[in-house]
Amino acid sequence: MEKNIVTHSYQVSRHERRVRNNHNSFLIWFTGLSGSGKSTIANLVEKKLFSKGISTYSLDGDNIRKGINNDLSFSPEDRTENIRRIAEVANLMIDAGLVVLAAFVSPYKKDRINIRSIVKDVNFVEVFVNTSLEECERRDVKGLYKKARAGEIKNMTGISAPYEAPEDPDIEINTEEESAQEAADRIVDFIQDKLKKSNE
Ligand code: ADX
Repeated sequence: MEKNIVTHSYQVSRHERRVRNNHNSFLIWFTGLSGSGKSTIANLVEKKLFSKGISTYSLDGDNIRKGINNDLSFSPEDRTENIRRIAEVANLMIDAGLVVLAAFVSPYKKDRINIRSIVKDVNFVEVFVNTSLEECERRDVKGLYKKARAGEIKNMTGISAPYEAPEDPDIEINTEEESAQEAADRIVDFIQDKLKKSNE
């Protein structure tokens, strides 16, 4: 596919966009079970960053799967493609100078390693929203666990499909012990240094 494609260099660089924005750009990736609180926390982090004048954008599994990725199912292969596309989109947004927040179940370790290699290690912050299956199922905000238990949904992460937990995330959130706002504040504190430094 890549044969006969020659990369074109543009004169406005990632570095210049970062300098103009007066902050670094990178990806904050939230992984965890459906209903773990990823989107809620990502939303609070974005609100806080945005109010400080930082240019942000949020990508979310439930929204992206209605648009650019509406051709993908929850099979292992399609999840891999889902995550690959999001990582490439996030990489463009990093180029554009944004702090990108991405909330995806992203259950496979190899897919998360792939994100890291697409956006580069230095631009990747991994947040593990570690809410237990029992708690996600108790909340069951979207009613999906009930349907999965009834056999109406196949490949449901945690029930009939695996979730490979990160072993060494940059930040781990336990939503059964801290509030979403406390978690968001902790993430914003963690990235303070990264916001200032340019990665190039
Ligand atoms: S991922 O596994 O490919 O990363 P993604 O984050 O895009 O998943 O989408 C997950 C969302 O889709 C969940 O929050 C849930 O609302 C919905 N969903 C529907 N079916 C499933 C399923 N079989 N497994 C997990 N999530 C599902």
